[in-house]
Amino acid sequence: MHNLLALNWKMNKTPTEARAWAQELGEKLEGGAAELAVLAPAVALSALAANLPAGVAFGGQDVSAHESGAYTGEVSAAMLKDLGATYVIVGHSERREYHGETDAVVAAKAKQAQANGLIPIVCVGEGLAVREQGEQVAYTLAQLNGSLAGVGPEVVIAYEPVWAIGTGKTATAEDAEELAAAIREALLTRYGSDADDLRVLYGGSVKPDNIASICAKPNVNGALVGGASLKVPDVLGMSDAL
Ligand code: G3H
Repeated sequence: MHNLLALNWKMNKTPTEARAWAQELGEKLEGGAAELAVLAPAVALSALAANLPAGVAFGGQDVSAHESGAYTGEVSAAMLKDLGATYVIVGHSERREYHGETDAVVAAKAKQAQANGLIPIVCVGEGLAVREQGEQVAYTLAQLNGSLAGVGPEVVIAYEPVWAIGTGKTATAEDAEELAAAIREALLTRYGSDADDLRVLYGGSVKPDNIASICAKPNVNGALVGGASLKVPDVLGMSDAL
């Protein structure tokens, strides 16, 4: 199974900037063992799709829980799929925190993504208080179970401890492995042999100089990267390290 390097631009890059980024990637990318996926703002996806080098996937950062209709401002899974998207992030901690997304909403979004042929990247992970109490495994598995209610095995899971996102504080490779192993076990229980090649990513201040040690762990199959996804040289550095 190839590692997945999933690049979450968050609310960065206009369509013009996305086009330039994709063209720069096309000029400099020399292949590599990891699969690349760019998760861009919805309005930048067309420009991205038209300029990404062959073999680089893309997708959205969020999707509506509804199929279509009177949901002003929302983007449907069918719209993303029609653009050629492969993935969509659901349940990122920033959506959970700033937009009140519950596990039930995350599960509904993941189901909607799957119903339209997209692979949801379902994000889970504990905050600092939970970590300090040593409850990170129980907390994260409860969140995982709630977020996967009714969701099929065609998923990617991203373990992102909230205290490590955008803070420069990276979980140790051992911290990442502890949770990735626990998540994999839960997935095997839930999906049986369908979970054999299911990917569990780590996210939280991943960059070129720490990605190799984290992704060398047996249960970590790649990374979901925020800040270090914005500059092509950083992306190439991470891709080369995998
Ligand atoms: O989706 C990505 C994560 O939130 C990590 O962001 O790499 O900027 O810490 P970061």
